[in-house]
Amino acid sequence: MHNGIIDLRSDTVTRPNTEMRKAMAEAEVGDDVYGEDPTINALQEEVAEMFGKEAALFVPSGTMANQICLKAHTQPGDEVIIHPWAHIMRAESGAGAALSSVQFRPVGNPDGSMDVKEVAASIQSGENPHHAPTRLICMENTHNFAGGAVVPVEGIDAVAAVAKENGLAMHLDGARVLNAAVVLDVRPDKIASNFDSGTLCFSKGLGAPVGSIIYGTKNFVNRCLRFRKMFGGGLRQAGILAAAARHALKHNVERLAEDHNNAKLLAAGFEEIKHLSLPKGMPESNLLFFSCGHPKISTERFVAGLKEEGILIGATSGDVARAVTHLDISREDVEQTIAAARRILNN
Ligand SMILES: Cc1ncc(COP(=O)(O)O)c(C=O)c1O
Repeated sequence: MHNGIIDLRSDTVTRPNTEMRKAMAEAEVGDDVYGEDPTINALQEEVAEMFGKEAALFVPSGTMANQICLKAHTQPGDEVIIHPWAHIMRAESGAGAALSSVQFRPVGNPDGSMDVKEVAASIQSGENPHHAPTRLICMENTHNFAGGAVVPVEGIDAVAAVAKENGLAMHLDGARVLNAAVVLDVRPDKIASNFDSGTLCFSKGLGAPVGSIIYGTKNFVNRCLRFRKMFGGGLRQAGILAAAARHALKHNVERLAEDHNNAKLLAAGFEEIKHLSLPKGMPESNLLFFSCGHPKISTERFVAGLKEEGILIGATSGDVARAVTHLDISREDVEQTIAAARRILNN
């Protein structure tokens, strides 16, 4: 459902449908800073169970979820091993430096995974006074800037084994971890099992208007509770938002496969159009990165041409654009987008 505009900029642009709004309107609420919002409490229990963890904590955004976890895992001056394109390092306004005073050590492959040997070689024990002690390894799944890549469970297990050997904690930026679970056809707790903490966003492919969640041990989540307050994320009658998240978990998880299929359909259409190019084997989920190599029409110009036809595409850096399929994008929208691309590029 949309208002004539095909908005492929992000899966954050979805709007709550009538049923979700009804669930929100009817939510039982209380003061969540006092721990008294029954809908939030129910959501937290459901999510903890879903990821095989002891506890969960509702927070306003994915950025806040990640940054609270960073803060709870580290001390100022610690080092964090993280993929060079990770959202936590690249797209959260320098929060790791500003709020937790951590130093990032980028390690990772273009497919969103991490090379275990490289991870092992990057760990610093802290015995040498010149070194920042490594405390945490952060992974992302699906990996946004690696083209929505899905990191297989074995790839996580291998990194986790190194983390364990060295007494390091593991954090998952799981903004789109349910997309990964759907692609891998595994339960979410299988992906989360080797992580000490993880996140999930309700406001992306799941279609809720606001909200993310942290999961981990009871102790860890209690620590996070304090930092949620410190970062200004303590909410009051937010059961209205948790009701949207619960509705999304009930109705919008399995259907993520439709978004993945639509992204593949879009890729197949673009691949047949001369001058459009995509990374080989992509997309793996709902994010599609592409470039336009037409001698006279740059990627930027191509994206502007689509905009003139009412089709919005997210520009990323340089010559790469990103199209994202989601709840409000139908197969027909994808077909219209391919047809418009053909018209603009004259083929
Ligand atoms: C992988 C990843 N992590 C975290 C976030 C941050 O989420 P939010 O926009 O809710 O702060 C995003 C947002 O797009 C993301 O793609």
